[in-house]
Amino acid sequence: MKKHYEENPWLIVEEGFHPDMQLSSESIFSLGNGRMGQRANFEEDFTGSTLQGNYVAGVYYPDKTRVGWWKNGYPEYFAKVLNAANWIGLSPIVDGEALDINSAEVSDFRRVLNMKEGNLQRSFIAELKNGIKLKVDAIRFLSMVDDEAAVVRYCVTPLNYSGPISFKVYIDGDIINQDSNYDEKFWAEVSKSISNDEAYVTLATKKLDFQVCTGQKINVTQGGQKVSFSSDQKEKEKYVENTITVDAKEGEEVVVYKYACNISSENHPKTELNNRAKTVLANVYAKGFDQMLAEQQSAWAKRWEMNDIVIEGDVAAQQAIRFNIFQLNQTYTGEDPRLNIGPKGFTGEKYGGSTYWDTEAYCLPFYMLTSGSKVAKQLLLYRYRQLDRAIENAGKLGFKDGAALYPMVTMNGEECHNEWEITFEEIHRNGAIAYAIHNYIRHTGDRDYLKEGGLEVLLGISRFWSQRVNWSSAKNQYVMLGVTGPNEYENNVNNNWYTNYIAKWTMSYARESIEYAKSDSAFWSDFVAKTSFQESEVEKWSDIIEKIYEPKKEGTKLYMQQDGFLDKEDLTAADLDVSERPINQHWSWDRILRSIFIKQADVLQGMYFFEEDFDEDTIRENFLYYEPRTVHESSLSPCVHVVLAAKLGMHAKAYEMYLRTARLDLDDYNHEADEGLHITSMAGTWMAVVEGFGGKRIKNGVLSLDPMIPDQWTSYRFNIVYRETVLSISVNGDGVSVKNESGDACDILVYGKSVSVPQGETISVTK
Ligand code: BGC
Repeated sequence: MKKHYEENPWLIVEEGFHPDMQLSSESIFSLGNGRMGQRANFEEDFTGSTLQGNYVAGVYYPDKTRVGWWKNGYPEYFAKVLNAANWIGLSPIVDGEALDINSAEVSDFRRVLNMKEGNLQRSFIAELKNGIKLKVDAIRFLSMVDDEAAVVRYCVTPLNYSGPISFKVYIDGDIINQDSNYDEKFWAEVSKSISNDEAYVTLATKKLDFQVCTGQKINVTQGGQKVSFSSDQKEKEKYVENTITVDAKEGEEVVVYKYACNISSENHPKTELNNRAKTVLANVYAKGFDQMLAEQQSAWAKRWEMNDIVIEGDVAAQQAIRFNIFQLNQTYTGEDPRLNIGPKGFTGEKYGGSTYWDTEAYCLPFYMLTSGSKVAKQLLLYRYRQLDRAIENAGKLGFKDGAALYPMVTMNGEECHNEWEITFEEIHRNGAIAYAIHNYIRHTGDRDYLKEGGLEVLLGISRFWSQRVNWSSAKNQYVMLGVTGPNEYENNVNNNWYTNYIAKWTMSYARESIEYAKSDSAFWSDFVAKTSFQESEVEKWSDIIEKIYEPKKEGTKLYMQQDGFLDKEDLTAADLDVSERPINQHWSWDRILRSIFIKQADVLQGMYFFEEDFDEDTIRENFLYYEPRTVHESSLSPCVHVVLAAKLGMHAKAYEMYLRTARLDLDDYNHEADEGLHITSMAGTWMAVVEGFGGKRIKNGVLSLDPMIPDQWTSYRFNIVYRETVLSISVNGDGVSVKNESGDACDILVYGKSVSVPQGETISVTK
């Protein structure tokens, strides 16, 4: 595969201007700081194809759904992450001509994402139609320190011209969302103001009245000296502009500093937005660009200290893991309990910035083991706070008595997806939410979380499962009909093994957790009173646990993805012509549904979660059957395969799948990076290294490491927080060493042997 971006351990580099790659590069070079995110759109005017994107955390639009006839229980809206005002706008104009890379003659174009320091740089030479040549060096970042602020340093050097250059510096709120069901614009103007060096626009979203004030404050230098200017000020609806004209000299730099902010009513009273914007801008303006940059560098250095994974001997793998970790840190910082992790983070509109099962199934381990239990707990509490809505949601579908069905897609606890096979049928997400509670507790030891909300969630979900199954007198077993499993290339199937299994597991875990909670009699009596819990419920669960149907191929260890799976024409992904892939971009839905091709881990997802329930032969047989039939057209698929392949000793397969998950967007395996990055699967990439190659597990409450190393690597190193102790784990061809960076002595298993790692010390174990 030809690589578009240069391989480099800390940088993503694009050489040359590639209009056909612009949409993808806008995603790849996206910036974010947990509060907001910005695609790598150009500052200057650009008439080529682009997807403008400035996203402000928590701000969304409940777009009208598009549904057919059967509306009962249907979500009322489809939430959209909103493209907010364009704050980066800054266009040089020379001799009446605005610089537009699409029409100018461009050379020496280079774009660099500096992951180590958290900024985006771009340089190029442009020859305008009027023959004037400009050299441009731009750098921008979204501050991790002042997280409502961002800055652009835009430097222009005329190469063959002396005379006036104007800079149109603007905020444009008249923007659209590409993903709008009815082509509506989602913002209305509240107010705007402009003065010589600053300007503000406050916009409100229609329907929900989220308000965002976007502001700019400008400074200009020439030949290193501050320029005093008097700007031309222009206003129109949702738009403000300061145009500054400088008498430029050939070969001399003119630098425009644009300090900007996005202030959201999610964080401040609406009446205060404009004042807050002024304060934030005054503060960053006083700091100046250099100080902001230095602060940004140290904020990132601090993050990398804990988060970095160092891979020696394989630059492509090294660059990729850092890219994934960088994007995860740009998306979610764990500081705001109302926020969660959208599958595309702040890099595109698809998936509406909403919360999916991805958070519990894929993201929790990353945040839990790099940021600690507090952040992980916050992700669990996010769902606990939405339990009432999950109960309401189940109620809309006819379930009762406290049964909870968490939404497949949500902004605030309500289901807000408008595809029926996802909204109604992908009920497996409920299981992942229960599994996350178990995963959290086994890693952190914080079993008391059950009493802080975990048990209520488990009860609600178990109630749902017990009502969702039905007794089949033909089979003499419980069955679950009409579901979509994780593999979305099958809809409305009966007895999806993964869903049946996770339902059974949830009820069993809830039963065990109830026994534990009963020992605290004060808690237990409050719990019973609050939830109207009855012992007969557990009896019912026990009956289901014992008698639920799990489709299996007779005489083998193969679990069947669902009833009738073996009726399909038996092909493997290798039988597909490359021109047909990804099949979701080439085949009709009808053809996909009939085919054997699996979008993402489904049976194998279950074996990944519940590995300890299956012997190695069973996992191997299922892996060898399902993997060749899987097209991995969900980003969430390859990482699970890395973990299982590494466990099974299939090192080449594990490495192949690692590159696929880690470089999914950089090498655009699924031809969709233009829509935004696969943020949640990036957490899966981290899992692929730590759980796959690193062999990290929790075995009977003890951290266990069983590392292997891909042939292509000479060593790798990662850190995890385990029970509040930071462990630094290094692996090479000989074995593993574990350093206890902080905290109490830690007893762990390495290659199955018990070892104790005292504080500050390193132990080494050879394989
Ligand atoms: C996957 C889902 C996932 C969603 C968001 C879909 O393509 O099939 O499992 O939740 O993307 O990442």
